[in-house]
Amino acid sequence: MHSSLALAVLAGAAFASACGDEKHFQRVRRAAASSAAASRTVAAGTSAAAAATAPSRTDEASNAQITNAAEECTPYSYPPVAALQAAGVFPEIWEIANLSTAQPDVIALFQSLNGSIPNIAPKGTAIGDVCSLRYVLADDGATDPDCWWTYEQCHTPKAKGLQSDVYNLATPETWGLTYDDGPNCSHNAFYDYLQEQKQKATMFYIGSNVLDWPLEAQRGLTDGHEICAHTWSHRYMTALTNEQVFAELYYSKKAIKDVLGVTVQCWRPPYGDVDDRVRYIAQSLGMQTIIWSDNTFDYNIATLSRATIEGNYNEILNGGKNGSYAVNGTIVLTHELNADTISLAEEFLPKIKEAFKYVAPVGVAMNNTEPYVESGYTYPNFAQWTAGTTSISLAAPIAVSTDASLSIPLSTGQTGSVSATVAYASAAATSSSGSGSGGSSGGSNGARGSAQGIVGAITAAVVGAIGAGAITVLL
Ligand SMILES: *[C@@H]1O[C@H](CO)[C@@H](O)[C@H](O)[C@H]1NC(C)=O
Ligand SMILES: *[C@@H]1O[C@H](CO)[C@@H](O)[C@H](O)[C@H]1NC(C)=O
Ligand SMILES: *[C@@H]1O[C@H](CO)[C@@H](O)[C@H](O)[C@H]1NC(C)=O
Ligand SMILES: *[C@@H]1O[C@H](CO)[C@@H](O)[C@H](O)[C@H]1NC(C)=O
Ligand SMILES: *[C@@H]1O[C@H](CO)[C@@H](O)[C@H](O)[C@H]1NC(C)=O
Ligand SMILES: *[C@@H]1O[C@H](CO)[C@@H](O)[C@H](O)[C@H]1NC(C)=O
Ligand SMILES: [Zn+2]
Repeated sequence: MHSSLALAVLAGAAFASACGDEKHFQRVRRAAASSAAASRTVAAGTSAAAAATAPSRTDEASNAQITNAAEECTPYSYPPVAALQAAGVFPEIWEIANLSTAQPDVIALFQSLNGSIPNIAPKGTAIGDVCSLRYVLADDGATDPDCWWTYEQCHTPKAKGLQSDVYNLATPETWGLTYDDGPNCSHNAFYDYLQEQKQKATMFYIGSNVLDWPLEAQRGLTDGHEICAHTWSHRYMTALTNEQVFAELYYSKKAIKDVLGVTVQCWRPPYGDVDDRVRYIAQSLGMQTIIWSDNTFDYNIATLSRATIEGNYNEILNGGKNGSYAVNGTIVLTHELNADTISLAEEFLPKIKEAFKYVAPVGVAMNNTEPYVESGYTYPNFAQWTAGTTSISLAAPIAVSTDASLSIPLSTGQTGSVSATVAYASAAATSSSGSGSGGSSGGSNGARGSAQGIVGAITAAVVGAIGAGAITVLL
């Protein structure tokens, strides 16, 4: 059930012919842009102090109480975000991020990588049109020289030194529960439902949505879900320039840091569209690429019909019952995109729990108990999860209102070499002793990457060979 854009390869020639259909996100972006404009109007003409959020929307807890969807989706101004935006810290939301307004430290960070990014040309357009793309063969005749996921679902990079994408789970009979495209403005009922079910998931948040709906984003963290990034503006990443790819990743990571207080180390490419050039930039920013092995296509419900999407879910459920996942668990692509995908998610969660032995966030299944750079957020490992511990230690979200440098575990040398702490894929179980689902925020471990720090964190020195696009991991 691997699937993405269906790219037909003409016999003999390496010619990808498929015209991106008009993607769901163009619609979403339009809706979001108008709500953002309304939000700016709300903020304009009020003093910062009075940047009057309605009384019910001042913090995560009060915001989580709103149950009326229309009220939930009414734009509001959240002072920390308004201040950051007024200070020009972020690119324009829902536009392709670039470095034209970037602070000097961000530009310096990009420049430290610039010489060693694999020399791969951008592919197609930012909305996924690869109609006229000629995807050439490598010199040695190998197909798919760039390990372009969209082409044939390649997840094992061809450029040296890159981590493989995470696309399935080492734990059998496990459904890796993921929801993309949030935070959705009207997700309170869904998150309430997940809470009742004591079910956590991995949430892939879009940076622009995080700034539009900051308190909704905070709820994801508060509720104990695992947060990962889903880029800034949700474009096809392999179509973008190096600067744009960097900015899409950097600013989505920064939006989550500034609004939630955590530095994420995982991301999912919109449409799965990633190649070795994009992987290199993501890995340099300390972000593990997470794909999927099964796709419900729920985002296409408007064109495919609900029955079709239910059929897709059911097929994966059949696999759960008939032994298809006896060796590896699956990571499944589902969305909190709109009311339909959310209602499917609720309809199927009980069935998923019946058909699969375990339903867990990706990081939990990978025993990645400290998913963020910051301490204070400890998640259960898989053994703890299966024994019933769904949450261990979660500090409260902390929004900042002044620009703070993002802590990228990367430093530049004079020769273009960088060192990166790549922790996400490390899978060793930790000795974390927490139990129960309490919210104690004490007992966190030491600094990530230090010798006695998080068990399983690995420090990789990624040395860029300037100009050659070859990188080597020394470990
Ligand atoms: C950067 O993005 C902004 C907002 O979309 C756009 O107006 C500007 O032209 C872009 N600059 C470059 C150099 O691409
Ligand atoms: C990155 O390198 C390219 C090629 O050398 C250069 O044209 C571009 O200006 C550099 N970008 C930045 C932001 O320095
Ligand atoms: C969230 O879901 C609602 C209801 O389906 C939808 O109208 C809205 O566009 C979605 N998107 C965001 C960003 O909240
Ligand atoms: C198990 O179910 C999957 C999905 O429906 C199907 O593709 C596969 O052929 C089935 N395998 C067996 C052994 O029945
Ligand atoms: C299980 O997944 C691993 C990669 O994560 C893969 O190498 C292996 O072939 C898979 N095994 C089966 C039986 O699918
Ligand atoms: C996580 O821990 C479990 C044991 O509880 C183990 O079976 C599984 O392989 C581990 N996952 C990874 C990715 O190492
Ligand atoms: Zn998406």
